[in-house]
Amino acid sequence: MLQKSIEKALNDQIRIEAESSQIYLAMACWAEVKGLEGVAGFMYNQSNEERDHMLKLVKFINERGGHAQVSALKAPNVTFTSFKEMFEKLFEHEVFVSTSINELVHITLQEKDYATHNFLQWYVAEQIEEEAVARTILDKINMIGDDKGGLYLFDRDILQLTVTSAAAITPA
Ligand SMILES: [Fe+2]
Ligand SMILES: [Fe+2]
Repeated sequence: MLQKSIEKALNDQIRIEAESSQIYLAMACWAEVKGLEGVAGFMYNQSNEERDHMLKLVKFINERGGHAQVSALKAPNVTFTSFKEMFEKLFEHEVFVSTSINELVHITLQEKDYATHNFLQWYVAEQIEEEAVARTILDKINMIGDDKGGLYLFDRDILQLTVTSAAAITPA
């Protein structure tokens, strides 16, 4: 059975994951109308992933005797001054989400809720991955600068982009 304080904290995280999904959906739309199909595809995938993160929390709360809340969401930014700005926003947002997950983990320890603490480890690992991907993209964008040819190639290759973060490497 979930304690009320944990249930509330998890519901706050549901809202953050839902807002993340909307933020990346808006980025996908902006990239698509700008003609960058690869970037748009990447952002649509990101948006879907955030929805999955949200659903995982929804199921967990309901299974543990709580009630997952579907709440109103903040409207996302729908335009950007450049791709660089958009990817900076993506990176900043992932760092914000990591902070929020860390806070959540901290609360579960304070409340001695080890089941939820264990469940949240998946999110801790996922955030390492997400930050690594966002940082890699940002590095590439900074390298490209204003070069149109570079952006063309980046758009072509982004869907193939994989980052093996430290979290994904299992020692032999
Ligand atoms: Fe997420
Ligand atoms: Fe994310």
